[in-house]
Amino acid sequence: MGERLAFILLESPLELVPDEIRGHPQVRRSARRYGVDVGDLLLDKSLHYNAMAALPRKWKRGRPDIVHITLLNILDSPLAEEGKLEVYIHTVSNRVYRVESRTRIPKHLERFKGLMAQLLKLGRVPPEGEPLIYRVADSLGEFLSSRREGLALLWERGERASPRRVASEALEEGLLLGIGMFPRGDFQRSVLRKASRAYRLYGGRPLKAWTVAARILCAAEEIMGYWGE
Ligand SMILES: C[S@@+](CC[C@H](N)C(=O)[O-])C[C@H]1O[C@@H](n2cnc3c(N)ncnc32)[C@H](O)[C@@H]1O
Repeated sequence: MGERLAFILLESPLELVPDEIRGHPQVRRSARRYGVDVGDLLLDKSLHYNAMAALPRKWKRGRPDIVHITLLNILDSPLAEEGKLEVYIHTVSNRVYRVESRTRIPKHLERFKGLMAQLLKLGRVPPEGEPLIYRVADSLGEFLSSRREGLALLWERGERASPRRVASEALEEGLLLGIGMFPRGDFQRSVLRKASRAYRLYGGRPLKAWTVAARILCAAEEIMGYWGE
């Protein structure tokens, strides 16, 4: 039995406002409101909906809240507390970041967005001292080639499984469990191709990303005996 559970949050909709819409009045207004340069602003669909109209694949972009809720759920856990949880964020721009399990994610979304903007700009947070979240690879392919264990996706069209089975196989084989951070649609083909396995839960009916992560995490904690007497 392996010692750690590893998650990668795939295609996370975290990016700085892209060049082509930096001049849009909605973007300029929100930069003024936050008192930051337009280039330091995180894309957020709830603020930049009109500005995003012409962006390609806009339904998969500008949703920092999904990553926020997922991280809050998985990092506030006995497994994280015990240092047995490994978490990575893969972004829509294909970068991969490691999140140390002792990281205290800000509860307030606006503060989280500020932190993510800083991460994307500097490649690490905090900017000084020991980093808590930091870039580990410039692409998903590069990241996976640096690991011995395979990528297993949680995917609505994968092989039928229970959270307990996913957790026990992940722990036994050291699998990296990939969960999509996009609000709708499917994984990019390039991501699907990199997976050695895929599991579907709950008959493949759509679940929220943080629900999938939390159920597997709880199953792993049960298996590892954290909820026993
Ligand atoms: C909100 S879903 C993605 C959007 C969803 N495909 C849709 O069009 O509504 C977020 C992620 O949770 C995971 N997921 C959701 N439901 C699942 C299920 N029934 N079995 C396994 N994974 C699931 C997948 O990793 C998926 O990419």
